[in-house]
Amino acid sequence: MKNILKKLETMRKTALAAGGEKRVEAQHKKGKLTARERLEVLLDENSFEEWDMFVEHRCQDFGMASNKIPGDGIITGYGTINGRQVFVFSQDFTVFGGSLSEAHAEKVAKILDKAMQVGAPVIGLNDSGGARIQEGVESLAGYATIFQRNVLASGVIPQLSVIMGPCAGGAVYSPAMTDFIFMVKNTSYMYVTGPNVVKTVTHETVTHEDLGGAFIHTHKSGVADLAFENDIETLLQVRRFFDFLPLSNREAPPHKKTSHNPDRIDFSLDRLVPQNPSKGYDMKDLITKIVDEGDFFELQPDFASNIIIGFGRMEGETIGFVANQPLILAGCLDINASRKAARFVRFCDCFNIPLVTFVDVPGFLPGMTQEEGGIIKHGSKLLFAFAEATVPKVTIITRKAYGGAYDVMSSKHLRGDVNFAWPSAEIAVMGPRGAVEILFKKDLKNKKIINTYTQEYIEKFANPFVAASRGYIDDIIMPHTTRMRLCRTLKLLKNKIIENPRKKHDNIPL
Ligand code: HXC
Repeated sequence: MKNILKKLETMRKTALAAGGEKRVEAQHKKGKLTARERLEVLLDENSFEEWDMFVEHRCQDFGMASNKIPGDGIITGYGTINGRQVFVFSQDFTVFGGSLSEAHAEKVAKILDKAMQVGAPVIGLNDSGGARIQEGVESLAGYATIFQRNVLASGVIPQLSVIMGPCAGGAVYSPAMTDFIFMVKNTSYMYVTGPNVVKTVTHETVTHEDLGGAFIHTHKSGVADLAFENDIETLLQVRRFFDFLPLSNREAPPHKKTSHNPDRIDFSLDRLVPQNPSKGYDMKDLITKIVDEGDFFELQPDFASNIIIGFGRMEGETIGFVANQPLILAGCLDINASRKAARFVRFCDCFNIPLVTFVDVPGFLPGMTQEEGGIIKHGSKLLFAFAEATVPKVTIITRKAYGGAYDVMSSKHLRGDVNFAWPSAEIAVMGPRGAVEILFKKDLKNKKIINTYTQEYIEKFANPFVAASRGYIDDIIMPHTTRMRLCRTLKLLKNKIIENPRKKHDNIPL
């Protein structure tokens, strides 16, 4: 017994020492925490229960038979974040560069399996040189076993990837299939082929950062949701984000106590929409003014900023917000905005999170680039996502709701449960001037006629009354009452049940 205890202690010590002092120092020099330090920041104090600390690789080649470190470059287990269960893995770059062996993959697969069974999210901290080069095909098989589980777990438990170092090659596809990706600025990157391969194939010279750094993925590709300055800030934001999420699709989202009165009135909202219909205003002002504590967790703020997505709470309950942003591209829907919002709507629907949609949309962005890029297919993603969603859906039209975009943005016709309009709402096929210029093409030179008809069109359609008279709008509400009306409506809808027809799965236009 004594011998066993001694051996246990030695093995634990070896595992805890990870790749040794020098490599830990190198990790710190890059501004990165070690895999264990990261878990300490991420999880509640003393909550971490580690599994598989003694797992070792089985590779016999290239001197690996005598080169084994317990844990094999990844720390796995479960713990809590603000008291709620979560499974975690943290790749250890100081051990074989955090590279993925067959055994390393089995550890990840084990926690994914258990997380699905018990209903707890998985957070993966990625910092890895990719497939364990000494192993070859076993490590490729390992990736695939993880991919398969990522897919099965999708929609069952929330999955969150944090990229805290290299993530290259096929390894990127596991994070890509998880629900959210957070990155660390300057120290993390994701790409399918690295700078050397790019140079050989396309003769382009690029840095890791330019090819797959946090800036690229949060501004241009939209692959990542958010990026933060360093490991600690990133992990603390993950903790904050986690509090918005339900543990699984079997649970309601968490409730967080608030001191904010649901009946709170905000008269400044009556002045939010400018008199001039072509002037922009910040839709985020509206969201932060109506959510509990003004706490809005925005996702992808720098990608397709013409649409806003993120979580806030109303009377303590998590709500998914989707909103056109009139400050960017006048709030038009385009390819990226549709993709961004559609995926978010589907996440909310998977995990029983009600949706509140704020609409100020002049239509789909016109142009060759959009048509060539497939706006028809991509735009329909958002339409599809709203239409299939069965969670409570509340929509408020603040100003423009023109054309197809009116239909798309959680309209009554896509089973919007309760649809409100502010008095400033304009619900029409298109803007008055554009409409008159089409209808009276022959009279374009006669300004008087055009102005008269434009005025007539404004009076007829640039208001919420026509839609309200058809029942497409349930009520016209004063902006200052928005929080109160939303809180009441969401309470009403809390136990809403509707079901889609039975099917294996749908076929969203990908
Ligand atoms: C085994 C690896 C490794 C790997 C790094 N190491 N990557 N060991 N397999 N894939 C080891 C190094 O040998 C080194 O060991 C230690 O980790 C740190 O690596 P360095 O190169 O010193 O670190 P750094 O200079 O920071 O460079 C990091 C790096 C580089 C850019 C990630 O290590 C690198 O290019 N690695 C190979 C990346 C790669 O090509 N992976 C395969 C991709 S294909 P010592 O003992 O010296 O500390 C792939 C396919 C997946 O992943 C397919 C899925 C379907």
